[in-house]
Amino acid sequence: MIPSVLPTYNRAPLSFVSGEGAWLTEADGRRFLDLGSGIAVNALGHAHPALVAALTEQAGKLWHVSNLYQIPQQQALADKLVEHSFADTVFFTNSGTESCELAVKMARKYHYEKGHPERVDIITFEGSFHGRSSAGIAAAGSEKMTKGFGPLLPGFVHLPWGDHDALREAAASDTVGAILIEPVQGEGGIRPLPDQCLKGLRDLCDENGLLLILDEVQCGMGRTGKLFAHEWAGITPDIMMVAKGIGGGFPLGAVLATEEAASGMTAGTHGSTYGGNPLGCAVGCVVMDHVAEAAFLTEVNRKAGLLRQKLEGLVAAHPQVFEDVRGTGLMLGLKCRVTNSDVLAAGYDNLVITVPAADNVIRLLPPLTLSDDDISEALARLDAAASQVEAELETV
Ligand SMILES: Cc1ncc(COP(=O)(O)O)c(C=O)c1O
Repeated sequence: MIPSVLPTYNRAPLSFVSGEGAWLTEADGRRFLDLGSGIAVNALGHAHPALVAALTEQAGKLWHVSNLYQIPQQQALADKLVEHSFADTVFFTNSGTESCELAVKMARKYHYEKGHPERVDIITFEGSFHGRSSAGIAAAGSEKMTKGFGPLLPGFVHLPWGDHDALREAAASDTVGAILIEPVQGEGGIRPLPDQCLKGLRDLCDENGLLLILDEVQCGMGRTGKLFAHEWAGITPDIMMVAKGIGGGFPLGAVLATEEAASGMTAGTHGSTYGGNPLGCAVGCVVMDHVAEAAFLTEVNRKAGLLRQKLEGLVAAHPQVFEDVRGTGLMLGLKCRVTNSDVLAAGYDNLVITVPAADNVIRLLPPLTLSDDDISEALARLDAAASQVEAELETV
């Protein structure tokens, strides 16, 4: 008999009842160190007092009105995002996949309004992940996500990583209108795009009249040590997808754009019943107030350096288990030599949570607020997990 919850997830046998900072408490009372943050969502950790206060205060006043009316909390959050980014304008969504939908629509509408309705194609890259909607799976294009879900939304050109000739050729095509890429691939296995490549993509877009769409759903909102990952490369996109960390755990997303890129999106061309509602935006404002602070980002970078250094030591100590450390900021991956799910499970046994990714990687996406003590504890637990895996290898 089918379970009452549609069985699309492979869930761990863990059920958390409360959280505080980087810690989660299981129903049986065990305390787990959370290096996953609900897949890069709980940027300020669990039950951050300022987020709890913002949510409960707003909950006592007004939850939802719809976008038929002014929403001051939404305006305030949009102003903060515009102030701290390349963007001139923001549309609020409820998730990363919904942000993908709008990014695709916005790019196509832009070219349509500029007199180029043929420029519908969007270049995307192997290993990418842009969500599970029809546009999201068609954009990523992998068989794993698309098989059985045809007909797929047309208009995506999938390229391998690093094939510059194929990229130049595709970018010059009359039907291509945009390039869509994650500055750091998350689901794909924590694969950062080198700054030089991001700069090269910006130039390529400028040369060919294309829009550069960045998917910062996972790598944005301070995760790499800058508010947005592309800032490291010193470039700006035309359109950017955001979600996850922006709501700190409240389902919230956004599409940020320049005035020019957004010029086709006039009244009536797009909408969302819930997107940018007072509850979500009240929380989002507090997240932004923390994450956009220079001192907060400095701390993220310091802690990222510490964690990375310790992880290098972990890899060196367990060469049978780990191959290398990859990633940037607090978006790190351990490439495994054994099956990554075995390391993940050993982590659960040792009360530390990580997140699987493609390419046999486990992801470390801790709350950006984790403490130095948490980092030491994380390493002790990961070390114990790796030793357990090694012991299991020897008994085979
Ligand atoms: C880079 C990226 N884009 C889009 C998405 C989709 O976001 P959501 O799951 O909120 O729809 C994700 C989710 O993991 C993501 O990592």
